[in-house]
Amino acid sequence: MKIAIVGCGSRHQMFRDSVIQDYADKHDIVALCDTNAHRLNQAAEAASKPGTNGVATYLAQDFDRLITEQKPDTVVVATPDFLHADYIVRAFEAGCDVICEKPLTIDLTRLKMIVDAQARTGRKVKVTFNYRYSPARTQIRELIASGTIGTVTAVDFRWHLDRVHGADYFRRWHRQKENSGGLLVHKSTHHFDLLNWWLSTVPTEVFASGRRVFYRPEMAVELGLEGRGSRCADCPVADKCDFRLDLAADQNLKSLYLDAEGDDGYFRDRCVFDAEIGIEDTMQAHIRYASGVTANYTLTAYSPWEGLEIKFQGTKGDITHRHVEVHGVFGGERAHADEDAISTELHLAGQLPRMLEVPKAKGHHGGADPVMLGYIFDPENMEPDRYNRASDHVGGSWSILTGIAANASIETGSVVHIEQMLRARGIVLPR
Ligand SMILES: NC(=O)c1ccc[n+]([C@@H]2O[C@H](COP(=O)([O-])OP(=O)(O)OC[C@H]3O[C@@H](n4cnc5c(N)ncnc54)[C@H](O)[C@@H]3O)[C@@H](O)[C@H]2O)c1
Repeated sequence: MKIAIVGCGSRHQMFRDSVIQDYADKHDIVALCDTNAHRLNQAAEAASKPGTNGVATYLAQDFDRLITEQKPDTVVVATPDFLHADYIVRAFEAGCDVICEKPLTIDLTRLKMIVDAQARTGRKVKVTFNYRYSPARTQIRELIASGTIGTVTAVDFRWHLDRVHGADYFRRWHRQKENSGGLLVHKSTHHFDLLNWWLSTVPTEVFASGRRVFYRPEMAVELGLEGRGSRCADCPVADKCDFRLDLAADQNLKSLYLDAEGDDGYFRDRCVFDAEIGIEDTMQAHIRYASGVTANYTLTAYSPWEGLEIKFQGTKGDITHRHVEVHGVFGGERAHADEDAISTELHLAGQLPRMLEVPKAKGHHGGADPVMLGYIFDPENMEPDRYNRASDHVGGSWSILTGIAANASIETGSVVHIEQMLRARGIVLPR
């Protein structure tokens, strides 16, 4: 496969390095594209095979020339979220398939562009829902699909982002809804996708509320950070701020962002307490599904710990799953365990609860990333995927519709009916 990567920031490294290190005999990275010449050149250096002339680089305005000259089969889209749709549609129209980072896109206008272009061209997009591939999550899918707890009737799902990982969404492009759709789309796309996939259904109605409570100027004052700057690099009170991100102190962050600022003024370390931030940090949603199951969902971005807690109530018993996660994110102080801790408890009616043995795997996101990359880049050598973990534009769409509906519900204060919302926009999606 001839691969072009668009968006050469942090996340593209996973795809780039995976192809170079593990699948070089099968695939070639033929081109890289970005608006930022510094990041582009750095990515090209890392992607070039020894003894070759390197990988062709194109600034974003030359994307169409990239397609004509390099003729990629597949375009990997790893730009900020609001740009995914445009690149997906252009790649489809040029006859390419796409591997797209989550979320597929951030709003209904862009979703319609993607769905229409897919129908017109017949091309395919894989949305990389790495969370589906972690063995602990697959085990839950298996338990539910096999009817172990009977019919699932109700779910309580809480996701906690801690003050290291959670804060990171308030520093850069994610902090505005027009770029990321807010955390209910940008982050929750993973969680709502898991619910759709675990429960084998799609959302129908959403009622939500959301506020920004913590990452506010008032909180900075409460924390004794009067006189703070607009970014950490020149902040007069950085030394006493637990949320400081010191770009210069980390070689990867420095070369990826600090050294690249001159090209586009993209500051990776904006103050997390800025007044201008437009996304929520405290969100709750009540969701009804086509199968009849209902779910309560909470997402907070300033928790003392990172991870998830979920309870599935079924007609024969319940499953309680808890995962304390440790992500490799930068900046801030993390005051809890350095190791992931996962537990899954099965409690069948009339029996004592028992802890299940949870399968583990090595690698990012609970061992999910390497398995997902295997299915993307080397499917012939993987076991047939009996868990149906690959996701296309349909799964990608349903995963963002809960969040898009939740955003609309927050705005209007009303229940949002997803089918009506889609019909009003002329979007047709299989369930
Ligand atoms: N699945 C996961 O666990 C996971 C984790 C991190 C990020 N992501 C996703 O990956 C994507 C990228 O995130 P990131 O953290 O790497 O962001 P980033 O800001 O580090 O990188 C984005 C890159 O896109 C470039 N860019 C901006 N405008 C562009 C344009 N018009 N054309 C081409 N390139 C452009 C930027 O210069 C930058 O190099 C996002 O969609 C994000 O949601 C997914």
